[in-house]
Amino acid sequence: MVCAVVGGRDFPPGFKFGAATAAYQIEGAWNVSDKSPSVWDSHVHANPDRIIDRSNGDVASDSYYKWKDDIEIASKLGLHFYRFSIAWSRLLPKGFANYISEDGKKYYNDLIDGLLEKGIEPLITLYHWDLPQVLQDLGGWTNPLISDWFADYARVAYSLFGDRVKIWITLNEPVMFCDIAYNTGALAPGVYSPGRGSFLCNKHSMIAHAKAYRIYDEEFRPKYNGKVSLANQIMWFEPATEDDVEITEIARQFMAGMYSHPIFSKEGGWPPVMERIIAEKSKKEGLNHSRLPPLTQEEIELIRGTYDFFGLNFYTSRTVLTAKEEEKIGPWPYKGSSDIDVHLTVKPEWKNAGTKWFFIYPEGLRKLLVWLKKEYGDMEIFITENGLASYDIGLDDHDRVEYYKEHLEQVLLAIQEDEVKVTAYTAWTLIDNFEWLDGYRSKFGLYQVDYEDPERKRTPRASAHYYASVIKCHSLDIDNIISDEL
Ligand code: NOJ
Repeated sequence: MVCAVVGGRDFPPGFKFGAATAAYQIEGAWNVSDKSPSVWDSHVHANPDRIIDRSNGDVASDSYYKWKDDIEIASKLGLHFYRFSIAWSRLLPKGFANYISEDGKKYYNDLIDGLLEKGIEPLITLYHWDLPQVLQDLGGWTNPLISDWFADYARVAYSLFGDRVKIWITLNEPVMFCDIAYNTGALAPGVYSPGRGSFLCNKHSMIAHAKAYRIYDEEFRPKYNGKVSLANQIMWFEPATEDDVEITEIARQFMAGMYSHPIFSKEGGWPPVMERIIAEKSKKEGLNHSRLPPLTQEEIELIRGTYDFFGLNFYTSRTVLTAKEEEKIGPWPYKGSSDIDVHLTVKPEWKNAGTKWFFIYPEGLRKLLVWLKKEYGDMEIFITENGLASYDIGLDDHDRVEYYKEHLEQVLLAIQEDEVKVTAYTAWTLIDNFEWLDGYRSKFGLYQVDYEDPERKRTPRASAHYYASVIKCHSLDIDNIISDEL
């Protein structure tokens, strides 16, 4: 007997559970067939020191060859859906839409068909940070034309796979590939342009998303009837003291609002407070124009309302203090963006997970869900990522079991008590993979991957058994965790 009969902690009927991965983090085969390099291929090859263990994604978890194993795992876990991303430069090696790779097409077709055969819904992310290098050479996300290049790529993907794929995420975490990337220079493409490149990328990514959404809406929705949105990573920001309530709300607008207000708010456009602050700062810096490029009325209308659900990636939280001069750092714990005067810290009781940015505060997830509903209205929300980093702890990942349990409890409370419409939950991640700057040191997998083994053997962790039990019971009321071989 796995499931408890009473308890009241059931998920609503129709609530879906899934797990996610991303192409560069799992596929490997970086130069196989006609695939061209992405910015991540170039970045790690040119700057091995940037990655904590000097590793890269050349082979990664070898999912280009081991995709059948991944499907088997997803099936054993009982996943309702599997979220994976397409490597743009595998499908369109020239970056542009007039040449489609036969091998790239076959790889994703096989994956989609294999999932569907097992009754698992495929959910595709179009862009998970791996821009074709050929497009980076033309300026990448700082070139306004990228919105058309991306829209063309999206159309190809919808045409090839839209008959079977009903949920699409255009962009994964623009806050990372714009703000963190350009404000630090540490992530691909390795360009350091704080408060400039980041804002150009910010604007162009919003327009790219909007164009891709509208193409689906006009050309594909009538026949395929799917859903499209983007996935935003948002930290929950909590005021450190009563005096910090106002600055905390401003910080939320700079992190959550930057990529949500243009799309999800009724009025559209940049969060007004962000627009005002950056304009003032730019003026003080002697500039004639704000570093935040304005959105024209036409652009505001193009972007506004381009969603069918809100995609939320949630991991961690911060407390917010008004900064003293010497403490000024950006709205996230990376130096470089100092447009608001905040100092971010954490409460001593929030435990640190297996990487320096990660502090655990499950209640932050519920508070954020409630804030999103208040801010943008009663929309459907998919949790598109949530999971725990740990250093190599083998198979007994009890901290991860706790993390999932405590976060799923908060999701249930948000649904039951606060009436937030959360309809899906996605565990990050199915299998260990290349964790960007943390290489293979920081692990997030429900399944461990043995990187010493050329076969990249996958083995279930305790968290895999726990998650499979939650899915089977459709509830947090579980008598016994599934113990059979997964
Ligand atoms: C969010 C990103 O989408 C994913 O690629 C990354 O591995 C996780 N966060 C964990 O850091």
